[in-house]
Amino acid sequence: MTADVGVRPVVRHRPTVAVVDLAAARHNASVLRPPSSELIAIVKADAYGHGAVPVALAATRAGASRLGVALVEEGVELRAAGLDVPILTLTEFPPGSEGDALRAGLTPTLYTRAALDRLLAASAGAGEPPGAQVKVDTGMHRVGVAWEDATVFVHEVVRSGVRLEGVWTHLANAEDPADPFTGVQLERFRSVLGRLRADGIPPGLVHAANSAGRLARRDAWFDAVRVGVALYGVSPGAGVAGAARDLGLRPAMSLRSEVSFVKRLAAGEAVSYGLTHRLERDATVATVPVGYADGYPRALSNRGEALVGGRRRRVIGSVTMDQLLLDCGDDAVEVGDEVILVGRQGGEEITAAELADLAGTIPYEIVCRIGVRVPREYLGT
Ligand SMILES: Cc1ncc(COP(=O)(O)O)c(C=O)c1O
Repeated sequence: MTADVGVRPVVRHRPTVAVVDLAAARHNASVLRPPSSELIAIVKADAYGHGAVPVALAATRAGASRLGVALVEEGVELRAAGLDVPILTLTEFPPGSEGDALRAGLTPTLYTRAALDRLLAASAGAGEPPGAQVKVDTGMHRVGVAWEDATVFVHEVVRSGVRLEGVWTHLANAEDPADPFTGVQLERFRSVLGRLRADGIPPGLVHAANSAGRLARRDAWFDAVRVGVALYGVSPGAGVAGAARDLGLRPAMSLRSEVSFVKRLAAGEAVSYGLTHRLERDATVATVPVGYADGYPRALSNRGEALVGGRRRRVIGSVTMDQLLLDCGDDAVEVGDEVILVGRQGGEEITAAELADLAGTIPYEIVCRIGVRVPREYLGT
């Protein structure tokens, strides 16, 4: 753990920790950067729970030439930590944030006249006009200028004096390679680019692919790919898991703890709040100091599994705020034994994707929700 990778030292009394392997993040960045496109490392939401500054430093050292964030605050934090590559905010600067954002040298995304006007007002008198990228809505309908109106809007941007540094879109369902809608989105996007070029407007950096697009759609790479979840070694979905495996992505985060209490319970005893699980036979039950306040989903009550002694153990009863229980059968388990909630132990592995399936969510949510109460410990610095 060293200061130059942006890692804050932690004082720790509970053994629950999220171990982040920065060597894995660097490896993932280097294999994810396409041969002739740039890699924009998406480090919003504290790098999906992995730690924005350490991951941004690792990714930029391993081939990411740009960073992407959701919030102005996230970009400002990265600048304050010394990251000097271009940082794109994935939505417009919120009203009133333009001064802070421009002072930090963040690249705005634009898709409305109102945000363009605010940007112009905030940069008036600054000498050089600011640069910006335009986000085109090709069918996801979250944010962006509708693809049918995009050419007119880009003309407005260019006329205003703002430097057009990029044009981009976002794919709604690239996780499902069989969904023809990705092709529809790319077709719409290409038609916007074609019209701009016909009008003599160079679009700047063109990008569309998220992790799934990077993994499964060569035709979505353009000048850059915006990769988030795959950078952390997590597959965006089952449909592209094979491509993630083929690329050799390595999970960057494991969630580990230790057994804090052990007891032998007789068949017929029930456990935890609501007594939702009753033992069918005598069992050694281990308590683990991690709960839903740490981001371990309560939905994994009676469903999740964790590793102790190199074997899978079922989560029994309700996951509580700070603790959960594992059925360890007749095995000798002791206080202090390592518990792996996400990650590898012996020859076994529990992935964020597996827990997400059991909890009825997506792997993104599993890693993003590991709470601030869980210290991050960095390997491979
Ligand atoms: C606009 C945009 N681009 C790229 C990404 C990265 O997506 P992924 O984590 O699937 O790679 C996100 C994340 O949600 C996003 O909102």
